[in-house]
This record gives sequence, C-alpha cells and structure tokens, in this order.
Amino acid sequence: MDKLLIEGGFQLNGSVTASGAKNSALPILASSILLKDKLTLSNIPHLNDITTMLEILSSMGAYMTFNENMDIEVDTSLINNLKARYELVKTMRASILVLGPLLARFHEAEVALPGGCAIGSRPVNLHLDCMRKLGANIDTSNGYIKASAKGGLIGANIEFSQVTVTGTENAIMAASLAKGQTKITNAAKEPEVTDLIKCLNKMGAKIQGEDTDKLIIDGVKELSPTNYSVMPDRIEIATYLTATAMTGGEITVKAVNPNTIDKVLQKLELAGAKISKNDDSICLKMKKLPSAVNISTAPYPSFPTDMQAQFIAMNSIAEGQSEVIENVFENRFMHVQELVRMGGKIKLKGNSALIDGNLNGLTSAPVMATDLRASASLVLAGLVAKGITKVDRIYHIDRGYERIEEKLKLLGAKIDRISE
Ligand code: EPU
Repeated sequence: MDKLLIEGGFQLNGSVTASGAKNSALPILASSILLKDKLTLSNIPHLNDITTMLEILSSMGAYMTFNENMDIEVDTSLINNLKARYELVKTMRASILVLGPLLARFHEAEVALPGGCAIGSRPVNLHLDCMRKLGANIDTSNGYIKASAKGGLIGANIEFSQVTVTGTENAIMAASLAKGQTKITNAAKEPEVTDLIKCLNKMGAKIQGEDTDKLIIDGVKELSPTNYSVMPDRIEIATYLTATAMTGGEITVKAVNPNTIDKVLQKLELAGAKISKNDDSICLKMKKLPSAVNISTAPYPSFPTDMQAQFIAMNSIAEGQSEVIENVFENRFMHVQELVRMGGKIKLKGNSALIDGNLNGLTSAPVMATDLRASASLVLAGLVAKGITKVDRIYHIDRGYERIEEKLKLLGAKIDRISE
C-alpha cells in the first residue's frame, strides 16, 4: 500500500496550479446522463473519485473518450443499464448523484444505498424525499434504492429542511427534465452547485437563482450537447495556502477563482498571512508563526467543513488557544487523535475541538489517514513536524488531491510516495 514520507521543517515557496474541482466534476459528470448525446468536459481532475464516477457511467453503457486536449467526451446516448452497483457505490458516496439524472431521463433507477462513512452517518433521506416530491416511487430494500416515475417526473416545491450539497444537485438535475416548474428553497449555495447550474444551463436547462438558496427550474424536454470547463478546486487551493501559513514562505496558486474561498482567506489573514488576489491567482506570504484562529463550520458562504481538519493542524502549532466548531458532520474529528500523537494539544468536547498551540512544534510519528480531509491535515502536520512522518492509507488523499506529493515537492517540501 502507498504511503507518504514527509520530512518536516522546510518552507514552501514558488507557484502551483490548481486542479479542477472534484466536488464540481462529480455532479457535472453525473449530469451527462440527462443528455442523449455528448458532453465534453475540460479541467476534470485525475482523482480516484472521478475514476469511480466514470466506471459507474461506463457500467451503464456510456462511452468515454479523451480528445487531444485531454478533455473528456462522455457519450451517454446508449445507456441501457440503469443500475449503480454496490461495489462501486460503497467506494464513493457521491455515486448517489446518478439517481436524479437516471430518474429524469429514464423514469427509473436502481442505486445502491451508500453506507455510513468515517465523518458521520450521512443518510440520503433528503435526496429520496425530494425525488418523491417530484413524483417518484421509492422503495429501499436489499441495500438498494429502487426508484420509478411512470410517465416522468413532475415539477414540485421542494423545501430542504437542512442544507445538502449533493441533495440540492440531485434535485436540480432531476427537475431539469421534469414536466413543469420546480421551486427549491433552502438550496445549497456552494460554488460547486453554481458550477453545475452553469453547465446545465449551457446544455439548455432553465435554472434561475444561481448563488442563492431559492432556485426556480422550468423543466425542458431535452438538453443539448455542449462543452464545459469545471471550476478550480477551492478546497485544494485553500489546503496549499494553509500549508504555507504553517511552514512559512511565499506561494502563488494559479488558475483559481479567489472569490470562492473568502472565509478561508479572512481566517488565514487573521492567522498572520499576507494575501494578495488577482483575477485568477492568489499569493500568500507568511513570515511568522501563525496566530491561533477560531472557526465554526457551516454551509457556504461560511467556513467550509472541508477545511476544518487543515485548520486544526494549523492551530496545533499556532500562538494561542483556539476553538474549532464542526457544525456540518457529527463525527469529523478522526484526525484529532492522530494530531495528538504528533504532539498536538487538542481536547474534544462535543462538536468542538479546543486547541492549545504547541509552540515547541509537532514531532513526527507514523499516522493513519481516515478520510480525505483528515489525511490532508496529517500531511500539513508532517510538513512542520520534527523528523520524518509516515502517513498510511493515503488512498483517501488520492480521492481528492491530484498528485499532492508532486505539487508540494514543486513548492520545496521534502515528501515522497513509497510502496510497502
Ligand atoms: N444530510 C442528511 N440527509 C441527507 C443528506 C445530508 O441528514 O439526505 C446531512 C449530512 O449527514 C450532513 C449534512 O446534511 O450532516 C450536510 O451534508 P451534505 O449533503 O451537504 O453533504 P454531501 O452533499 O454528502 C458534499 C461534499 C462533501 C462536503 C459536504 C459539505 C461532494 C461530492 N461532497 O457532501 O465533500 O463535505 O458537501 O460541504 O460534493 C470532501 O470533499 O471531502 C467532502 C466530504
């Protein structure tokens, strides 16, 4: 199994280019099911989760080709199998994103129920409720969601009782081909939701209200082929910036949309980083130890839960005390015990982590990744820890960070991937 070996104590300097956003590419790839034609996508990151989504699509009968620019062309005209198998779904919860598009186009779908997950129970009740609202019959038995809507989905009013990102995306995709109008309230406003809306509208969907929590979707009969470039990965960008706030140094992240990570940038500035933004790049300079910052996660535009673990790593070596409150997932603190093994002074109390910045710094240890963002926090800790940190189970990190060790090496980190 692959592991990362990181020798801590080196500043990050230089420039790095952001990859396309995983959490935008996944729903956009799923949306190709809505088309009876080709969707051409660029800036799709090379990640294990993307491979899983491509495998699901091809298991249904879709064809994928890469053109000369390495854009992916997804041809879903010949889809004939409306099932997402457990073997694939169990490796990636976002597989649920095929439910809405399958129901909308074929009026039928069978998708394995995703199980629990390292960061929380993560039920899919809100996805199912909204498909029911749109007229689908849903039966969950033998570990599968069996859904059908004879005669097609019908527009409805959907009010989410809780903000859900992929739930909102499923609802949008399903409503795009439903008969009549759908109104969604308390929709997720994450930039990845907006990216999906932009792609769907480019295909001919009629979705209004992007960037707001109220969406109005007028169903259309069919969508048309188009090409679309996926937005930059705001969490990947924020992770490299946070890494530099920890190691010190000066980096520029290129190919970014700086407006999508305002809250993270504000917190990094509070920690002492000097940040300058251009239209498509962000430069971060850090000349001191970070100061501790409090954070509280919540849906966009608040501080993202996907950056919570990295900020706990930063606060572990910061000057001062801090509190990090996790409001989105009930069990997203698996990294804390690993950081404690590296010398972090962190206490958990309910959904908060109380951190006493350890000015003596962290020390290396063999540590284990438990989920994607938890593994990122361990890599960041390894970059500043004394000695050589070995991070195990890095398949988690390969789900969401493209060539992380190569990008960090470019910036001056001492990091290697080994197989043992
Ligand atoms: N929830 C329910 N019922 C549902 C759906 C969600 O109770 O039917 C709860 C969840 O358990 C959670 C909260 O609602 O407590 C919010 O979950 P949400 O549905 O928004 O999460 P998601 O759509 O499954 C996406 C990202 C996650 C990111 C969250 C929150 C994708 C593919 N995944 O998950 O990304 O943390 O939104 O922003 O978009 C990651 O990239 O590491 C990652 C976990």
